[in-house]
Amino acid sequence: MIGVFDSGLGGLTVVREIIKQLPDQSVVYFGDTARTPYGTKGTKAIQNFSVNNAKFLESVGADVIVIACNTASAVALKEVKQAVKVPVLDVVTPAVDEVVARERQKVGVIGTSATVRSQVYERLINKIKPKIKVFQQACPLFVPIVEEGSENRPETKIIARRYLNRLKLRNIDTLVLGCTHYPFLRRHIQSEVGSNVKLIDPAQATVAELRRFLVAEPGISQPAKKEPKYRFFVSDVSVNFERSARRWLKRPVKLELANL
Ligand code: DGL
Repeated sequence: MIGVFDSGLGGLTVVREIIKQLPDQSVVYFGDTARTPYGTKGTKAIQNFSVNNAKFLESVGADVIVIACNTASAVALKEVKQAVKVPVLDVVTPAVDEVVARERQKVGVIGTSATVRSQVYERLINKIKPKIKVFQQACPLFVPIVEEGSENRPETKIIARRYLNRLKLRNIDTLVLGCTHYPFLRRHIQSEVGSNVKLIDPAQATVAELRRFLVAEPGISQPAKKEPKYRFFVSDVSVNFERSARRWLKRPVKLELANL
């Protein structure tokens, strides 16, 4: 069974990819809705939350854990790997691999304040390809907009324009959606930066990496014998979570309160 965690709804973008690319695998999800957003918090707090989330997933049977949160991947990967016995995958590394595999030169990265502050994307991209120019932009209001289910409100468009204008002026050719919540806003983001800018959603590359990993290590997480099971835990029941999750995953979602 694959364990996936995020601060809230964002990791469901990774779950959707798992359903698509690994339809035989059962999934246990944890959204830390009591503590979201992570991106405005300090490093130590994000590390503590992430370690607790991973331990919780391990305790309910996860055989492998995907940190479906760029913020936690950026500042807590080492801590999470040390805290659990099962293998741990992050979302930043596969996204970086996808960026450097393309012949692009001007890459924008949008993410939470903590992800931008960590400079993880800039560092890892330039370590492999120093010539790629990386421009970062924090978009702190995007996560609460998604958690509230306010993607289609008129003010969301104004906020997106404000955040993305600076990157547009840099003539970026690629934009990394460096927060798993942002694919919920993909339509607004693409329309602000223009259709010629290639959007990279780390969820796809992450699940492709997970698939390769499970093929290489076939004993780790067995495919479901009959139907795969999907369990969704949260640390606080939020009104919007179930509704957005159902819409995003196109299947019924029953929330369970995690006993952390
Ligand atoms: N979705 C997460 C990320 O990818 C966390 C967002 C947040 O809680 O601030 O960064």
